[in-house]
Amino acid sequence: MAAALAPAASLRLRPFSTLRLLSLYSRTCTSNLPSSRSLPSPFRSALPRRRCLCTIITGALYSGEMVKQEILENPKGELGERVGKFRRRLKVAEIKGGHDEGMDRVGQSIVVMGWVRTLRAQSSITFMEVNDGSCLSNMQCVMDSDIEGYDQVEAGSISTGASVWVQGEVVPSQGSKQKIELKVKKILLLGESDPSYPIQKKRVSREFLRTKAHLRPRTNTFGAVARVRNALAYATHKFFQENGFVWVSSPIITASDCEGAGEQFCVTTLIPSSVETTDTLLDSIPKTENGLIDWSQDFFGKPAFLTVSGQLNGETYATALSDIYTFGPTFRAENSNTSRHLAEFWMIEPELAFADLDDDMACATAYLQYVVRHILDNCKEDMDFFNTWIEKGIIDRLRNVAEKDFVQMTYTDAVELLLKAKKKFEFPVKWGCDLQSEHERYITEESFGGSPVIIRDYPKDIKAFYMRQNDDGKTVAAMDLLVPRVGELIGGSQREERLDYLEARLDDLKLDKDSYWWYLDLRRYGSVPHAGFGLGFERLVQFATGMENIRDAIPFPRSPGSAEF
Ligand code: 4AD
Ligand code: MG
Repeated sequence: MAAALAPAASLRLRPFSTLRLLSLYSRTCTSNLPSSRSLPSPFRSALPRRRCLCTIITGALYSGEMVKQEILENPKGELGERVGKFRRRLKVAEIKGGHDEGMDRVGQSIVVMGWVRTLRAQSSITFMEVNDGSCLSNMQCVMDSDIEGYDQVEAGSISTGASVWVQGEVVPSQGSKQKIELKVKKILLLGESDPSYPIQKKRVSREFLRTKAHLRPRTNTFGAVARVRNALAYATHKFFQENGFVWVSSPIITASDCEGAGEQFCVTTLIPSSVETTDTLLDSIPKTENGLIDWSQDFFGKPAFLTVSGQLNGETYATALSDIYTFGPTFRAENSNTSRHLAEFWMIEPELAFADLDDDMACATAYLQYVVRHILDNCKEDMDFFNTWIEKGIIDRLRNVAEKDFVQMTYTDAVELLLKAKKKFEFPVKWGCDLQSEHERYITEESFGGSPVIIRDYPKDIKAFYMRQNDDGKTVAAMDLLVPRVGELIGGSQREERLDYLEARLDDLKLDKDSYWWYLDLRRYGSVPHAGFGLGFERLVQFATGMENIRDAIPFPRSPGSAEF
């Protein structure tokens, strides 16, 4: 956000060139105007016929070039035009985002493009709020009824949801909500908005907005979530890159089940194409003599699935490049209709070579504190919004996370703590049970007053096959990082690097050793102690924004019974 808020290096609009163009095309010589075909395509259909003058200025401003493009002749003698320079359009964040909230631009003539949030006509003056998504703030545009293009306001074609091009002068604002506003000289409707536009000013429920996932990013809340999500992704790459990790793309289609929980979506062409899915007969799926599905005829010649985790592939690169991370989509076909589960979610999975569980926990802590600091420093406006409207006190909560040490305790101690708790849990606690969300939240929210807590050394029977066995023979070197409101944010472990232990564990769990041959090879050839963790990105977004439901932390949520959009 800091970068986005910094003053723009190069602006599209150069006032002097505008004037030059204006004087070139006087009102009297409209017949000599270039055809609309020479204008950038977004403007061709949107332009009212009678507004030739405006049209030309608009086109020139949008293209960012007042200079004539050079006509080139290629070797074959055909004509072509050189591609123009990339110039960033001036965004509201750039106009209002500086220290003085835009006061340094007072007197400048600028262009703003965006979507109308509100339009309010008073007797002699009309106020219009335009938002372009670059920040939470709108650009307040103030119009007299004699400005060019006002007839579109009068005709009602500029309304909430419409897209507009507005040119005017930056002036100090009369209102108290903002320091500057735009005194409009010209307005142009780019795209009308039908009166059925569902994102009106009145507040609507999150459930309703989930049914409008294609339009909800135009609301304050979902715009802010999208920007903070983006900042968290940027900070993630920044943290790992600054610490010497290599980003590795793990495959999305896989034949192995990393977590061994059997929660995978099958990827098959035995049911051929989307058109045929509705009328494919069961009989058309090829079968073996025993009546089982004949996977040898499937695309990959064997069953294949969407990955539940990139970890196993990540380990192959960690045992070559030392420290790596993956950051990509993962899929789980678990039938969990909770506020913390998605069927498709993004995971960040670092893997550290020559590292043990302590290194793993230290990395997870440093990472989380880094990304939290990043959004507090760079997404101030959006974080203030969450603090006021979504979760009161979230900024203080996150500041604590960024500054205070995290608590760590063993699973055995955590169970003891829960057994002593003066609270009735829905799921009873005893050593060996998996901790439920209610237990995790009790530990972080009540026992440790909102601090993240890392629980380590879980019973081996409730954890995945790849985790390193501890010397007690009962537990593994696993860790879960729990945070308030969300519960488990991170799950990780030191990996079993001893070939004989790993093979024995696969046998115990009746997993097919042959299908893990390449994973076992890592223990055959230069095995090293190594550890890693997985962080559910949407749970991080929830934690960082205060959004209650994980379906509001991802643009297009996939959950049982829902794959719309
Ligand atoms: O604890 P999990 O299952 O661990 C793994 O997948 C390991 N292979 C990670 C590793 O060591 N590289 O999942 C890791 C995290 C969880 O802590 C949680 O934040 C998130 O992924 N997660 C989900 N997020 C949204 N929806 C779901 N259905 C999730 N399942 C797990
Ligand atoms: Mg887990």
